[in-house]
Amino acid sequence: MKKITKAVFPVAGLGTRFLPATKAIPKEMLPVIDKPLIEYAVEEAVLAGIEEIIFITSHTKRSIQDHFDKNLELEEKLLKSDKIEAFQKINRKIFQNTTFTYVKQKSQKGLGHAILQAKHLIQNESFAILLADDLIINDPSATQQLINVALKTNTSVVGLNKVPKEHISRYGVISSADIPKHEKLFLLNGIIEKPQSNPPSNLAVFGRYVLSHHIFDYLEKIDPGFAGEIQLTDAIKLMLEDHDINGYLYDGIKFDCGSKEGYVKAIAHLASDMLS
Ligand code: UTP
Repeated sequence: MKKITKAVFPVAGLGTRFLPATKAIPKEMLPVIDKPLIEYAVEEAVLAGIEEIIFITSHTKRSIQDHFDKNLELEEKLLKSDKIEAFQKINRKIFQNTTFTYVKQKSQKGLGHAILQAKHLIQNESFAILLADDLIINDPSATQQLINVALKTNTSVVGLNKVPKEHISRYGVISSADIPKHEKLFLLNGIIEKPQSNPPSNLAVFGRYVLSHHIFDYLEKIDPGFAGEIQLTDAIKLMLEDHDINGYLYDGIKFDCGSKEGYVKAIAHLASDMLS
């Protein structure tokens, strides 16, 4: 497998769980202390060697593009008044060689449909996917861990999290013959989106993926699934018929910031240093 240099960030969802906050502001721009959620994930990708960030956006997400564009007027004012630290916060060195590309998802037909919009930019490479509302704190980052496993095993890899029974029906859940044998790496033999009964395991896909370009063939083949949406999980399931895919239980403190509970917990976690 070649070096992984591209990451897709689907950010076209409606964010209904955060209304009214997300009526005019994308969910991904909600701040966790002083940084929007999306910047944590972009930082994670860039530090893991990603050079091109591909946002799948909608017409209401203009502020994400503004956030990663230069604001020359503000930069000049900060420099003139010697506010160097503030200047560095909006002109981040780590993003200097990063390319930001924006592709519109014209109608919100699901995560799988969002990813499919990046097909022409990925061509025949493997690539990372980061769902910015899943905030994961670790060094090495979740993305870095998945890239390492993908390169080592030469397979696609989905990031996993152990989820308690009462919450498992919110996620894509994997099955694997390796579950009794391994602690972290599982060769998938099945995956199901939001199982409403009899989940195959307590291992849920959580926010990070490294997939080969073959996924696009399967995304093009599948019909709408759960909630009438084109589900990435269904494409992964179909791809399993022809390709090995691993799941990796990565290390990190995980916050599902797409839910209010997870968002509040993330802020409390990051704020604890400030309060002590
Ligand atoms: P979610 O299931 O969290 O949906 O999408 P959502 O619309 O963002 O939030 P709620 O459920 O209405 O509160 C998972 C990821 O897929 C993206 C979202 O932006 C999020 O990163 N997505 C979802 C798209 O880009 N397009 C879609 O059509 C659906």
